[in-house]
Amino acid sequence: MSRTIIISNRLPVQLKINNGNLSAEPSVGGLATGLKSVHREGNGLWIGWTGLTEEDTPKAMEGEIDQALAELNCAKVVLNAEEIDGFYFGFSNRTVWPLFHYFLEYSEFELDFWEAYKRVNQKFADAILEVATDDDIIWVHDYQLMLVPQMVKEKRPNATIGFFLHIPFPSFEIFRTMPWREEVLDGLLGADLLGFHTYDYERHFLSSVRRLKGLEVSFNEIYLENRVIKVDSFPMGIDYKKFHNAAKDSATLSGKDRTDLQIKLDEHKKAAPNTKLIISIDRLDYSKGIAARIKAFEYFLIKNPEYKEKVRLIILAVPSRSNVPQYQLLKKEIDELIGRINGELSTVNWTPIWYFYRSLPFENLIDLYTKCDIAWLTPLRDGMNLVAKEFVACRTDQSGVLILSEMAGSAYEMNEALLINPNNFEEQAAALKEAINMPLEEQKNRNKLLQQRLERYNVEFWANEFMTALKDQQNDENVYV
Ligand code: UDP
Ligand code: G6P
Repeated sequence: MSRTIIISNRLPVQLKINNGNLSAEPSVGGLATGLKSVHREGNGLWIGWTGLTEEDTPKAMEGEIDQALAELNCAKVVLNAEEIDGFYFGFSNRTVWPLFHYFLEYSEFELDFWEAYKRVNQKFADAILEVATDDDIIWVHDYQLMLVPQMVKEKRPNATIGFFLHIPFPSFEIFRTMPWREEVLDGLLGADLLGFHTYDYERHFLSSVRRLKGLEVSFNEIYLENRVIKVDSFPMGIDYKKFHNAAKDSATLSGKDRTDLQIKLDEHKKAAPNTKLIISIDRLDYSKGIAARIKAFEYFLIKNPEYKEKVRLIILAVPSRSNVPQYQLLKKEIDELIGRINGELSTVNWTPIWYFYRSLPFENLIDLYTKCDIAWLTPLRDGMNLVAKEFVACRTDQSGVLILSEMAGSAYEMNEALLINPNNFEEQAAALKEAINMPLEEQKNRNKLLQQRLERYNVEFWANEFMTALKDQQNDENVYV
């Protein structure tokens, strides 16, 4: 029987070993949260890294780890500390991530990183080749594994391979700066179908293929030797029901079943019913524009002092890639900014910013989504931004305002949000004011439309669309003469 084999750098769970005890935590980030719902349904297999280094994994625990993963239909790729350094912290997150998010000045073009990337991509490809049959569908995910499609295709020309990029594909002018640009394109072109979140990312990719590889491209098809490779956009959705129902359940909880955060937010609502709560939720990443958002909040409060004590910004910054120097610098910048602004603007009864530097369990996340009045998401670049969609899905009474950066992939599908340019503080301040004062009726009208769209184009729809297109490729044998 044919299976779908998902392959991504991170598995949906991250393993930890504490005093010889194995535990698992859900992985953070759009790829893991989105695909989890897809993987749960099928008879597939998910191959990826456990989050443990080889050095930290006692040989005696291998069996227990394999068993725990097998119960989740997962299998591991083992990485040692050196590989994680060069491949994950290095090429993936110091070269590709900044470059593809238009932070050219942060991109490091280090040969050692590239060599590690190639070696580790080969390791992932070998893990697939070991278990996959020609009947299986292989679905490779994201920028950490861009060489895997070709590495698999080379050994298994009949394999059906899909690739989905969860981050932006940058314009040709940016992509061309990468010394290994052709090798990266060759790697991706091993896939039979390539998917992107938006039409713009697809267009950028096709333009790079045409200009760097000189290949014939017709509409969304690339002709390579005797193969036809399809390229398309598939905007990723969320598990709408999961978020919507969790929000409904959370509203009906009472007494000791309420989480600490829920109790704290409820108390706050009681004590200051007129204070609007604004949330900002992201991994602590420079692409998310968190520092600029904090500065824009200060700008807003100074420009509109009448809103002092009337609004509070809750920042949830989830720790991410903390070995990468740019992330350490950003953490420091954010800590200092919040300290300074709270110090300068607080009153006896009011602190403008509440800051949490941690990841929250699912039910706490739902508390934040449901208890706040405004979600303020201002990435400078973002492949999609699922948080925007999750926030809207959780508004069971259709109240609430979403302020969203037009640089996020999700902005293409969320026109009813207040869309802003994150670099424009005037516009940000005006949007905050509009959100704070938006009549309930208007909030509901906007959210109703957004919810209808999110419910229909959910994550299952996304996966089905991609799979259907990939299976079509399989049936066409994607060969031309
Ligand atoms: N998320 C999480 N724990 C948290 C905060 C966020 O699991 O404490 C999830 C959130 O629900 C969302 C994902 O992390 O699904 C973030 O995805 P998004 O597309 O917004 O950004 P990414 O982190 O992938 O860049
Ligand atoms: C984004 C990327 C994912 C990544 C996630 C979390 O969503 O597209 O591939 O898994 O961020 O980042 P991390 O480096 O912790 O895996």
